[in-house]
Amino acid sequence: MSRPAAPMSNTEAPLREGSQVPALLSLDGVSRHFGGLKVLQDVNLEVPQGGVFGLIGPNGAGKTTVFNLTTGLLPTTGGTIRFEGRDIAGQKPHQITRNGIARTFQNIRIFKEMSLVENVMVGMHAKLRYGGLGLLASTGLFRSEEKRARDRARELLSWVKLDHKGDDVADNLSYGDQRKLELARALATDPKLLLLDEPVAGMNSTEKTDLMVEIRNISARGYTIFMIEHDMRFVMGLCEHIAVLNFGRIIARGGPDEIRNDPQVIEAYLGREEDEASNEEVAR
Ligand SMILES: Nc1ncnc2c1ncn2[C@@H]1O[C@H](COP(=O)(O)OP(=O)(O)OP(=O)(O)O)[C@@H](O)[C@H]1O
Ligand SMILES: [Mg+2]
Repeated sequence: MSRPAAPMSNTEAPLREGSQVPALLSLDGVSRHFGGLKVLQDVNLEVPQGGVFGLIGPNGAGKTTVFNLTTGLLPTTGGTIRFEGRDIAGQKPHQITRNGIARTFQNIRIFKEMSLVENVMVGMHAKLRYGGLGLLASTGLFRSEEKRARDRARELLSWVKLDHKGDDVADNLSYGDQRKLELARALATDPKLLLLDEPVAGMNSTEKTDLMVEIRNISARGYTIFMIEHDMRFVMGLCEHIAVLNFGRIIARGGPDEIRNDPQVIEAYLGREEDEASNEEVAR
């Protein structure tokens, strides 16, 4: 399962301003239309290697669509998305996963009747090959591979403090723990870039604080994290870089302080953060 080596001097890879390091992920003039609806327009984004990058914006701004384009679930209408300097156009979701991008979903997608360990193992097989388990079971390698996979699954579960529940059925988990299980499963594909779509949605404040520490630790292990989140305390506490999307366009980029004080961001989003109804109004 060898990954193509990262291009060290790829002239196509855009350099970040003031930096000699190519962005891990870059969106260049990306648009996506659904019929007459221009959900994303001329989006330019550069997610640097390492750290936690945040994407915020009102409901319906187009944030999840950015993830759907980046993971190959949807094609772009225009523009270019590069991962490690390579254009991902035309790649199927499983190829993109194999090349090093994993994600969690805004609406949790886990196998409720399976154990936590098994759920994470499914993530590993998504990386190994299509149809994973069945194919693996038919080879003599099954036992040792399975033991290795189980051990790794437990290790990943420990990163989100769920290892003690490894043999429980996923359906018994609280909503917050189901989100953490999704995160562990995404890590099972051994990604370079981890996309998290609203990781703390539905969590109580203790769960949020715990997850903040866990994500910080995951980031410290060398995974680059690109996160969509509405919870401003969480975003401001975790992200070194933040981009703000409004009506399908990036209206601001910067560190937490720049974003917090940007008049356009306050007008479009932060000023109305307390009031979901107003946010929806803005998004219409
Ligand atoms: N497959 C699709 N077909 C048609 N319209 C779509 C599709 N996916 C998204 N949209 C529309 O694109 C717009 C942006 O949706 P998206 O899910 O990207 O927003 P979002 O910023 O993630 O919002 P939220 O914060 O509510 O999750 C919405 O108006 C949505 O209805
Ligand atoms: Mg969304």
